[in-house]
Parts: sequence; structure tokens; C-alpha cells
Amino acid sequence: MAERIDGEPVLSLSEVGKGFHGTTVLDGISLDVPQGQFVALAGPSGAGKSTLLRLVNGMHLPDSGTVRTLGENPAACSRGRLRALRARVGFVFQQFGLVGRLTALENVLMGSLASLRLPRYGVMSYPRAVRARAVEQLDRVGLAELRFQRCDTLSGGQQQRVAVARTLLQGPELILADEPVASLDPAASVLVLDTLKRISAEDGISVVCSLHQIELALATADRVVALRGGRLVLDEPAADLTADRLRAIYDPGETRAGQAEDRDGQADVRDGQAGACVGHAEARDGQVEARDG
Ligand SMILES: Nc1ncnc2c1ncn2[C@@H]1O[C@H](COP(=O)(O)OP(=O)(O)OP(=O)(O)O)[C@@H](O)[C@H]1O
Ligand SMILES: [Mg+2]
Repeated sequence: MAERIDGEPVLSLSEVGKGFHGTTVLDGISLDVPQGQFVALAGPSGAGKSTLLRLVNGMHLPDSGTVRTLGENPAACSRGRLRALRARVGFVFQQFGLVGRLTALENVLMGSLASLRLPRYGVMSYPRAVRARAVEQLDRVGLAELRFQRCDTLSGGQQQRVAVARTLLQGPELILADEPVASLDPAASVLVLDTLKRISAEDGISVVCSLHQIELALATADRVVALRGGRLVLDEPAADLTADRLRAIYDPGETRAGQAEDRDGQADVRDGQAGACVGHAEARDGQVEARDG
């Protein structure tokens, strides 16, 4: 497995382009993410945020340009290498992806399956050291007390924190989060994002997190990257940004400096398809989960 050379970005996209059925979805995206940075990925529905996250872990391959994730080029990886790379990249979804009838602890333990050979049935079938680490991760997200509670009886915010603990047990070097708080109320959203941010800082894990909530993006992230119509239209430290400037990205009437009118036109067409796309995205999330195991 390729190791990342010291100082090399955890993630590096260079002039990446991606389209589906002849429609350009991402165009000329260049982005380097250093170790430990928390990046909020903003932009209107259909802008290409989920597609970008999928390019990072090799779910999609770019049509042009290069992606380097943790020192690997997913497009050049064999299946085995890609599987190994995905084990190093945690993915957190809007819909949590937990098994409702299993306890919080059992769900977290599933995060270790990529590194264990045999399928496991029940908590006691996992090695003692793995069980201890699973409880430790639940403790870090503030849920150790609830480890024996079935996930379908936990609140949405608690479920998402279980999902974060499961990802942590995997020992990720990079976490991708695709609208992890989109279905949570404001208080639970803050708690989930603060948890992710704290862990990112404590463990030096880079996080790329798509978010629609402007205030949350500004309050949580070190850096905000915004896409619009498949183009990178903003990339700045969160501390330098105002809510109004970020909100302008979502304004269909707004033409950003350097953005041509015709690209906005394309963006609008794609935005119109986005409703249909969300359902697709969820189905695809299910596939990622199954493969990531
Ligand atoms: N597998 C696919 N096949 C065809 N079109 C796709 C596919 N995946 C994404 N698209 C299209 O690419 C565009 C960007 O989609 P994407 O899901 O990346 O947007 P997004 O920024 O994540 O939007 P949202 O905020 O609604 O989640 C959309 O127009 C979508 O319809
Ligand atoms: Mg999306």
C-alpha cells in the first residue's frame, strides 16, 4: 500500500472533471487538504458535493485530472488496493447507515469488520481488545452509557454519533461526511459537528464535510470550500468569511467573480434535477456502506 509522504496533503485533487451521460458535473476542481484540517463543503443542491466525496474514496473515477487520496490514486488501484484505501477513509452519511435492531455497541463493532477475517455474530464474538476499543469510541462521542440500547430507539443525533464512533473504530486517516446533520435538529447538529471537530483535532484526522447550514459551516470548519454548478467558486479560511458571502453562493441570481453566465445556466438545469438525485444518492450510500462493511 502506498504511504503518504510526510507533508504530502491527505487529499489532493488536480483539475478534476467528472460527468454523467454527457453532462459535466464537476469541472476543473483543484483542492489540497492538509492533515488535520476540517473542511466544510458548501454549495447548492446539485453542485457536485456528493460526487466530489465519491471521487475521493474511489466510488467514482474522474474523467479528467487526478485524485490522490492518502498517497493513492484510486483510478490506478486494483480492487484489493482500493478496498485497503477505503478502510483508511471513513464515510459518514446523512442516513446514519446503522442496523436499527442491533445495539449501539454492536453497530460500532461493525467498524472493525474490514480488519477481521470472519463474520461476527453478537458482541462476544469480537476479540476483547476490539470490544474495549469500541466502548472507548462510544465514550468519545458521549454515548458509552447507551451502548446496550438498540439503535432504532436512539435519537437521530445519538444515532449519528454512534455512526461516528463506528467510523472511528475503523481507524480512519480521513473522514468524509456527506450532509451528516441534514436530518437533525439544530441542537443535535451542533453536537454532532462539535464531536467530529474535536476528534479531528485530537487525532489529527482531516475531515471533508458537506453541509447546507451556513452558520454551522462557519462555526465548525477551519476552511470552507464551495461548489456551484460543478465549479469551485470559493475556498477560504472560515475565519475570513461572513455568512452573507457564503449565502451568496446559494443565490441563483448571484454571478460570482470569474464565473461565466453560461455556466450558471448549466447549473440551474442541474439544480432542477437535484431532487431526483437525492434518492439516487441515498441508494448509492447504501452500496458504499455494504462495500465498506
Ligand atoms: N450516478 C449518477 N448518474 C447520473 N447523474 C448523476 C450521478 N451522480 C450525480 N449525478 C448528477 O450530478 C449532479 C451533482 O450531483 P451531486 O449529488 O454530487 O450534488 P450535491 O451537491 O451533492 O447535491 P445535494 O446538495 O442535493 O446533495 C446532479 O445533477 C446529479 O443529478
Ligand atoms: Mg449530495
